Amino acid sequence: MRWVVGNWKMVRAQPSVDGWLREAATERARSAVSAVVAVPSPYLFLAAERLSGSALAWGGQDVSWDEEGAHTGEVSASMLAEAEASLTIVGHSERRLRFGETDAQIAAKALRAVAAGIRPLVCVGELAVERRDGRAEQVVAAQVDALLTGLKGQTRGLMLAYEPIWAIGTGVAASPADAETMHGVIRSRLGPLAGSVPVLYGGSVSADNAGEFMAIHNVDGVLVGGGSLRTDSFFAICDAAERCAGV
Ligand code: PGA
Repeated sequence: MRWVVGNWKMVRAQPSVDGWLREAATERARSAVSAVVAVPSPYLFLAAERLSGSALAWGGQDVSWDEEGAHTGEVSASMLAEAEASLTIVGHSERRLRFGETDAQIAAKALRAVAAGIRPLVCVGELAVERRDGRAEQVVAAQVDALLTGLKGQTRGLMLAYEPIWAIGTGVAASPADAETMHGVIRSRLGPLAGSVPVLYGGSVSADNAGEFMAIHNVDGVLVGGGSLRTDSFFAICDAAERCAGV
């Protein structure tokens, strides 16, 4: 099974959100490929309406660590579940860096998703300076360890994405060799979960390089930002995933 998860972030899909969803709804299922699009929360119910019964699932981009309450602006896991989100991104580096999310908060968010029956897709990855200093493996291993500690064994549906921060939105993806090394590190930190937790690569994935990443042994799929904004590019990546599935 290969995963392709689109992440629109706070960018409007092209030519329009509704146009994207309507077109995506007509796409065929790719064998052994799970495709999901993570949309901004206001579009979740529209995604549910347009995509239900299609080959594409939908999800959120973040979730609150609280179950309910006076938390203006937040979206709870049960609200995502009401919109039939199949997964939610958690701890994207943009949230870690711009909103100061900590490993403990990210684990708490993932726990809420698990409890609501939604797969948490937790992002890990190092800064350029950490890679330059030779600390990439250490940083990412610590992020995975902190997550597993916080989850206290509640790992149903857990997924990870290795997203080197310097590769996000830059057009400079990690080299396949570096991705393989980092995915190997993540896999080994997962211990007994190594065989059951999908680990995706993210960072400047395009229709041109997706196949290369998905051919790497420890890479179970891709998390795609810019390349998910147009259906032609997103489904070309799904085609690449289909070619690699079963390999
Ligand atoms: P990108 O973003 O594909 O535009 O680099 C990936 C991500 O941030 O998830």
